[in-house]
Amino acid sequence: MNACGPRRWSVRCIALVSMLIVCAAAAAQYAPNPPSAEIRAAMAWAFPLNPPANPDAQPPDMHQPLHVPGSARSYTLAQYDDMFGAPDWWPQDHLPMPHIVAHGRKPAWACAYCHLPNGQGRPENAGLAGLPAAYIIAQVKSFGSGERVGVDSPIAKVMPTEARNVGDADLKIAAAYFSKLKYQPWTRVIEVASVPKTHIAHWMLVEDADSAQEPIGERIIETTTDIEHTELRDARFGFIAYVPPGSIARGKILATKGDGATQPCIACHGADLRGVGIIPPLAARSPTYIVRQLILFQTGGRHNAAALPMQQEASRLRLRDMINVAAYAASRGP
Ligand code: HEC
Ligand code: HEC
Repeated sequence: MNACGPRRWSVRCIALVSMLIVCAAAAAQYAPNPPSAEIRAAMAWAFPLNPPANPDAQPPDMHQPLHVPGSARSYTLAQYDDMFGAPDWWPQDHLPMPHIVAHGRKPAWACAYCHLPNGQGRPENAGLAGLPAAYIIAQVKSFGSGERVGVDSPIAKVMPTEARNVGDADLKIAAAYFSKLKYQPWTRVIEVASVPKTHIAHWMLVEDADSAQEPIGERIIETTTDIEHTELRDARFGFIAYVPPGSIARGKILATKGDGATQPCIACHGADLRGVGIIPPLAARSPTYIVRQLILFQTGGRHNAAALPMQQEASRLRLRDMINVAAYAASRGP
């Protein structure tokens, strides 16, 4: 291994040096930035972590049948829990699901189990409906290669595992399916000074039983008005996001004009934030998901080559900017 010894600028040496330069460039691109204090504080609502399961809880009856009002279908809890068969209460609402989406292909899980059959997703994962197919494929590849990583939590390991398990042909089929679906209005965005107190269950914020209120502060509280209904994975039952008063108007300025330091989001994501080419849409998407991604761009968790412009953009955003711009984007029609 002395190919680069004195006077040995051989072909091997040049190859070695070029390789080191390429590695150094790649390493430079992935420079995880420690999150600022305000971002660390935001993790509690932007990346909700389930509390550990209660070891004393009674195991549920796995044969009990589950129903959603109006749907002719019924699933037992065991069927519902099967990650190789996503509950599909409203098959008439979407295109026929390909096998990988509806059932997965062992060991790859069914995409629809988490992202729902109509691709609308939930705040803890992502809406896939209407995303460009090439973008979906590229992101799954980035999860698989370690170029897109979340914070250290079990849920952040889900997509990297799925990405390593799904074959290229199935990924292409799944991407084509989700890209053909039209994203529907899914999250009601409401400006309020005071919000219901929440706790974390099912990887999301859930209203406390005592209906107590607290100031919203610098947060987005994305939740459901009926957690039992949400947990049935009824793909017709969406979410509600409380955002700080005035955030939508402030976010509009940031999105459409920029603030001097940042470029307007519409410059790349399109005038209505509905995406352009492979650049994904932001309109009507979960505001918690948007903030989480902005944090990941800022802290280096998303560091694939295509993420570079977003890393730069996000590096200039304070937490309040992220909240404002996410509130605005989420409040737009899809
Ligand atoms: C067990 C749950 C689960 C399953 C199954 C699953 N995903 Fe995901 N997916 C997630 C989570 C959680 C995220 C959000 C990661 C984040 O916030 O960075 C996500 C994010 C994504 C994204 C990023 C979306 C964006 O806007 O950038 C894509 C693309 C994706 N998944 C595709 C798929 C495909 C295709 C399948 C099936 C082959 C699949 N997922 C199966 C949980 C899942
Ligand atoms: C210079 C172009 C550019 C500008 C300006 C820009 N973006 Fe992006 N954005 C991108 C690209 C490119 C991607 C896709 C990155 C990838 O493919 O990994 C992206 C992705 C994103 C994502 C991830 C979406 C998803 O589905 O995971 C979010 C969120 C986002 N941008 C928000 C914003 C916001 C908010 C602004 C304005 C403050 C903004 N962007 C401004 C180019 C831009």
